[in-house]
Amino acid sequence: MALSKFSFPLATRIEFGEGYLTHAGAEAKKLGIKKAMVIADKGIIACGIVKPIEESLRAEHVDYVIYDQILPNPRDIHCIAGAEFAKEHQIDGMIAIGGGSSMDTAKAVGTLLTNGGNIRTWAAPAQLEHEILPLIAVPTTAGTGSEVTFDAVITDTEAHEKLNILDLKIAPKVALVDPNVLQGLPEKVMSATGVDALVHAVEAYTCKAASPITDAFALYAIDLIGANIREAVYKRTKESCRNMMLGSTMAGVAFGYSDVAGVHCIAEALGGRYDTPHGVSNAMVLSTVTEFNIPAAAEKYAEVARHLGVNTAGMTTEEAAYSCVDAMKSICADVKIPKMRDFDVINPKDFQELAEASFRNMSTPNNPREITVQDYFDLLNKAYNA
Ligand SMILES: [Fe+2]
Repeated sequence: MALSKFSFPLATRIEFGEGYLTHAGAEAKKLGIKKAMVIADKGIIACGIVKPIEESLRAEHVDYVIYDQILPNPRDIHCIAGAEFAKEHQIDGMIAIGGGSSMDTAKAVGTLLTNGGNIRTWAAPAQLEHEILPLIAVPTTAGTGSEVTFDAVITDTEAHEKLNILDLKIAPKVALVDPNVLQGLPEKVMSATGVDALVHAVEAYTCKAASPITDAFALYAIDLIGANIREAVYKRTKESCRNMMLGSTMAGVAFGYSDVAGVHCIAEALGGRYDTPHGVSNAMVLSTVTEFNIPAAAEKYAEVARHLGVNTAGMTTEEAAYSCVDAMKSICADVKIPKMRDFDVINPKDFQELAEASFRNMSTPNNPREITVQDYFDLLNKAYNA
């Protein structure tokens, strides 16, 4: 790929370390926050992760209110409700704790608060008029990477479709990344979110928006995730958690400043329609879409294979590229990702509409290989019958 120009404004300060949850209060104070809206779902609150954050806020005399109306695949109506809650409590900053749902909800709430309108008003390619209130993002999965991206994916409940708000003005000011939070994560969540992070890195590296800087983040992330995902899912060692969290944040930088591609386009269509977990939606179509894409970027997929630990010595570039498909399949099988057919709700009769929704996704033009509605339709059928 001939690329001589790119821009790389890293908008989020990353603070990474074990026990860093307790830095939330000091970080909020540094940002000038006097009353924070702490955004987390009920499950995260119940497992105690928010406690040390609350304590650190109290220790720094930062007032706060908790908002827990967060659902997976966040919807526009919940973001509007969140913005109303924020106005009522006159907050001047946000701390989002959780997976992508909490962080994306916070970005969307922030958008509505300082820009007015509704989610559709600010869906890409629209650009925000004003920065959102200062946001501290605390990821609890390794994962979404949303702590370092300036993208929020929100479901439009009228169109049953996901919309993206994409603007540097929604980037978190601080990503507070504490690998210890992974210790209590259910096995299923660890595996699905871990594969999501891997897909972020692979798509960031292979898509048309890739730059040398995002490539470096992506390949390092693939190294870390490929080598640690199994141990993190089944043994949850400190080292594997550290590496998965770092890999996920680095993959977040990679795709946040590059893009995702066809796998995510289908995954977001599936999630928008059926509410299937995002990481699983990605994993279910990963190998099928990768096989389709390889002819357009064989060198890059061969590199992915090597970074997933495949010994490609003696292979042609093509053989090496296709070997990454087996490496991906083996990861998905080892961490017990379900198949598309395991979801009763997924109906092949919907595939034409899903193909059209996938095609409309703003990341479609960045897929490494040109991809049509018909291609998406064929890939959905192929993945369903795999
Ligand atoms: Fe993702």
